[in-house]
Amino acid sequence: MKKQVAVLTGGGDCPGINPVIRAIVRRALIDDYQVLGIKNGWKGLIEKDTIPLNLESVSGILPRGGTILGTSRTNPYKKAEDLKKAKENYKALKITALIAVGGEDTLGVAYKLYKEGFHIVGVPKTIDNDLSATDRTFGFDTAVNIATEAIDRIHTTAESHHRVMVVEVMGRHSGWIGLEAGLAGGADAILIPEFPIDIDQVCTLIKKRHQRGKNFSIVVVSEGAKFTKSSEVLQDEELDAFGHVRLGGIGNILGKEIEKRTWFETRVTVLGHIQRGGTPTAFDRILGTRYGVKAMELVIAKKFGQMASLQGDKIVSVPLQKAVGSLKMVPPELYEMAKVFFG
Ligand code: F6P
Repeated sequence: MKKQVAVLTGGGDCPGINPVIRAIVRRALIDDYQVLGIKNGWKGLIEKDTIPLNLESVSGILPRGGTILGTSRTNPYKKAEDLKKAKENYKALKITALIAVGGEDTLGVAYKLYKEGFHIVGVPKTIDNDLSATDRTFGFDTAVNIATEAIDRIHTTAESHHRVMVVEVMGRHSGWIGLEAGLAGGADAILIPEFPIDIDQVCTLIKKRHQRGKNFSIVVVSEGAKFTKSSEVLQDEELDAFGHVRLGGIGNILGKEIEKRTWFETRVTVLGHIQRGGTPTAFDRILGTRYGVKAMELVIAKKFGQMASLQGDKIVSVPLQKAVGSLKMVPPELYEMAKVFFG
């Protein structure tokens, strides 16, 4: 019987997942492993929903967005019977090791299973780039490029109409997308979850810009940003299986406040899932490819409980525990640097 590596992709989809899957399969075949795709994240392990992966199944997927395996936000630790089924299926499917491709939630489950004796390896995935123990998650570069292009486009219409334009980007806990896309797109203010929004300061900055003859402004805001004087703006109260609320909508509140306080005509664009869709950049294709090869090599070397990680320009391995302990936030010094360009 051949050794069998399983792979699943969980949480929000993200450009670059398919390159990871392709790389795992290509590297696995060299060492004569069979590859089993588990569909829809941890849900597929609970439901024993699988698909064999071979050269044919990964042919042509390098430039494709999304994940050919499907994804879900299912948390097997939420219900005891789900966890029991997931563990039983891991054994019944005769899995030698499982590679989990995901962000904080998916890898959190991966780490728990590893602690219970399962052979698990992780790959860091999220457009938010907020996973610790790696310099970059794949998908982030694509999201930043999409958001930057959107800001460039919004710039020309803001200028023509002499408007304030608020651009809401993704970023649940951290403002990496907002910060980098805002810097690259030349935003006049960047508001991110790490540093609460002082609406008076934002409006003063916009007014000063207008006083010096710039009669348009671009404000980038992360969906998870908060006002100093109110709590997070929620889209709805429903929680997912990992206890997260659905965000989105702060841009509209911010836009109304700016218009009310400055009297400048203000419009709002929410980029939403556009940032997660479509083809990955060359950077994310290569990063995903390197992560996939490394993850498979960790499996071959029986280095379980580890995650492939980018440190500088090297792909290394780090304990999963380090990746799931705390989130990587935008440091104050980087935000201070960005402020040079505000206003
Ligand atoms: O975690 C990545 C992310 O894109 C966040 O930025 C965002 O809050 C969330 O996923 C949205 O998730 P969903 O697509 O499940 O609504």
